[in-house]
Amino acid sequence: MAATYPDAINDPIFELIAEASASLELESYVIGGYVRDYFLERDTAKDIDIVTIGSGIALAKKVSALLPAKPKVSVFKTYGTAMLKTGDLELEFVGARRESYSKDSRNPAVEDGSLTDDQNRRDFTINALALSLNKKNYGDLLDPFGGMKDLKNRIIRTPLDPDTTYSDDPLRMLRAIRFSTQLGFHIEEESLQAITRNASRIEIISKERIVDEINKILMAEKPSHGFALLHKTGLLPFIFPELVALQGIEEKEGQRHKDNFWHTLEVVDNIAKATDNLWLRWAALLHDIGKAPTKRFDEEIGWTFHAHEFVGSKMVYKLFKRLKMPLNEHMKFVQKMVLMSSRPIVLATDVTDSAVRRLIFDAGDHVDELMTLCEADITTKNPNKQRKYKSNFKLVRKKIEEVEERDHIRNFQPPVSGEEIMDTFGIKPSREIGIIKDAIKEAILEGEIPNEYEAARSFMLKKGKEIGLSVSASED
Ligand code: CTP
Repeated sequence: MAATYPDAINDPIFELIAEASASLELESYVIGGYVRDYFLERDTAKDIDIVTIGSGIALAKKVSALLPAKPKVSVFKTYGTAMLKTGDLELEFVGARRESYSKDSRNPAVEDGSLTDDQNRRDFTINALALSLNKKNYGDLLDPFGGMKDLKNRIIRTPLDPDTTYSDDPLRMLRAIRFSTQLGFHIEEESLQAITRNASRIEIISKERIVDEINKILMAEKPSHGFALLHKTGLLPFIFPELVALQGIEEKEGQRHKDNFWHTLEVVDNIAKATDNLWLRWAALLHDIGKAPTKRFDEEIGWTFHAHEFVGSKMVYKLFKRLKMPLNEHMKFVQKMVLMSSRPIVLATDVTDSAVRRLIFDAGDHVDELMTLCEADITTKNPNKQRKYKSNFKLVRKKIEEVEERDHIRNFQPPVSGEEIMDTFGIKPSREIGIIKDAIKEAILEGEIPNEYEAARSFMLKKGKEIGLSVSASED
């Protein structure tokens, strides 16, 4: 006898779907993420997948008709699916189907099928669990592949031969790694091997979908789990060759540098404990990518990565472009974090007011995030050093607060405008204005003058005189 879980589907929406199905004489089931998350006692997904033996589109229309708000039904004819929103739920309807794939496409040939055919075409046993919405067996669990057992044992396994499941839809290789990372599940060995064999097929998947999965891995509690699996299965070179290039330790004349790939993963895990900001997590992932192309061995000083922050920030642009990620303010933020990623480290040994002012000036609104990144960058295994670096950064943070409170450098606005400089000296737009403005800014950052109007105006008059300007008659 099937196990039965009517409590899993006691939301009135399920009863309404059941009623709609019955009136169309269709058999329907809840399947996929909703069922999985219910049994995992996770917050259940807000998108609910309904599979019906017959037309998913007809069922969606009937459900809409029974709902007081009569929500709009979006129909995706090519896929035979339909979607509607009610409250904060998104219901997705599909007719049960059998799919067969050809080698070089993600788009399968589709035929109507039974519930089991439909469960067969799904990615993992834990995502193929179905609960009946039919009168005769409401709440019964249909679990032909032992998905419940896999949920209990925390295993990711495919319903069919893994080579078939992954080759049919190579995105699933990433989904396996993403679920494993999000849920802390173990990917079954045969699956791992199949992913390794099929890794190159990830190339037929759109970049947008790949990035969706990477974002989910990055947002997990311990993202390194996912990146280590991407590395182990050979998927990483197809997505992040820049990270692969960081792997390895070289030794010359008894000097070794650290393995920057594994270091990066530690930094990502550290930052995941400190922030939910996805872009800061991206910055952690990419903060050292400039180290591979800039690595040199210098007889005198050993291994160097000269200007890796600058080179890395340029690489961020190329990487975002290649992955078809929007080249917007998020990209610029990541670039800025990478570019500035070593700045506070220098500060930690020598905390002068002027250096702190420069840091605030350059980091602008993102000085806090930059500090979070730098704190995450401490991966030394030496507890004394670990303690020392952390307390130094604490000092830097304190200093930033003090200096900012006094000098208001964040979002710096020149206290004397270009207009005023022109009026004072009776000059038209010219190089001199830039020179004076820059000198004022430098004097403020160096602490020669406070960040105030009167002081800046006197300084301007002095500087103008120095470069041969005289105060115009109208100003006298
Ligand atoms: N599915 C699949 N192969 C894919 C994508 C999805 O077999 N490449 C199936 C799975 O049964 C999955 C269901 O479609 O459970 C719904 O997919 P989706 O909404 O993308 O994922 P969820 O499992 O709901 O999980 P999440 O919301 O975390 O992505």
